[in-house]
Amino acid sequence: MKTRFLCQLLETQYPIIQAPMAGGILSADFIAKVCEFGILGSIPSGYLSLAQLEASIEAVKSMTDRPFQVNLFVDHSEYPEKIDKPVEVIELEKSLGIFISHDCSLPKLPSTSDIIDLIIAHQVTAISTTFGVLRDEEYQRYKKAGGHVMVTVNSFAEAHKILSADHADMIVYQNALAGGHKGGFNDAEYDIDAVILTLKKDYPKIPLIKSGGIVNQQDILLALEQGFDGVQIGTGFLMTQESSASETYKQALLGLCDDKQLMQTSSITGRKARGIVNELAMLELSQLPVFPLQHYATKAIRDHAKNHDLPQYQSLWAGSGAVSITSLPLLEDYMFSLVNG
Ligand SMILES: Cc1cc2nc3c(=O)[nH]c(=O)nc-3n(C[C@H](O)[C@H](O)[C@H](O)COP(=O)(O)O)c2cc1C
Repeated sequence: MKTRFLCQLLETQYPIIQAPMAGGILSADFIAKVCEFGILGSIPSGYLSLAQLEASIEAVKSMTDRPFQVNLFVDHSEYPEKIDKPVEVIELEKSLGIFISHDCSLPKLPSTSDIIDLIIAHQVTAISTTFGVLRDEEYQRYKKAGGHVMVTVNSFAEAHKILSADHADMIVYQNALAGGHKGGFNDAEYDIDAVILTLKKDYPKIPLIKSGGIVNQQDILLALEQGFDGVQIGTGFLMTQESSASETYKQALLGLCDDKQLMQTSSITGRKARGIVNELAMLELSQLPVFPLQHYATKAIRDHAKNHDLPQYQSLWAGSGAVSITSLPLLEDYMFSLVNG
């Protein structure tokens, strides 16, 4: 019943969301196939210019009439055009033979308000927010246009804060098993599933979506049994043949056999994120630039590592569920297994 409510809201066949994953890991073709199957596809807008985001939206729309969502990194701060890289990053660049300059440039990223205008113009009816929350005016403008807003949280306190302000239609609760960045807006500690589910008492009509560590049908059924209305899956989709993760990345994911091979690190982007333990993730910095400054400070290293198949210096985001995946299925087979076992 609750599940049907979420599907009605998202206009999908299944209460499953393909997690937004920034960094060019999922093509428009991939996202459209997910939508066609009856799962909600997600276009990540993180690190994209407005033109790049619009091209992604148009590409997905050209391949499917089914709904999809756009994910926003919400950050109302202003950043400089250039920053000095941390000394440890410069040392690492020198050791890899790629050092060119002490500083690095930051691209001009679109404002949240500009992204909202774009998605309204394209009649995208669902968004999810990460790292921050919409300003009241942005929220109202999108709601007036008929949109639904999912807010990523890691804790009960974050969920309660946004729901008591009447600023969310759905909550994406990302737990400690999730791959990639910790997506909440208060840098709160992770709560456990049972604590999040107590929200049902005060907000019975708000769908709760569980994200983190879900890779197969059994995990989905457990989430629904616990009382969640749906699930969001990242690493499982990453580990399909059609994902654009590099071969080195996929092999590193397949090589995981223990949770201890994963860690949470801020060194790569300036924000806490969960991925495979490697030299870059373990880099210790005396002064860490905030997100996204450190993301751009380490970009040359990560690009070099990707181009030269060096897993030690890439960002290899992964959730705990990766440990239980032993082969890379075709996307279609993976989605079929999620809903049919
Ligand atoms: C490679 C990668 C990139 C991600 N990028 C984003 C992103 O752009 N926006 C976002 O809200 N979450 C992002 N996440 C987090 C996912 O949305 C989701 O919370 C997480 O993958 C769920 O855990 P799982 O990987 O165990 O399924 C990313 C996760 C991964 C693995």
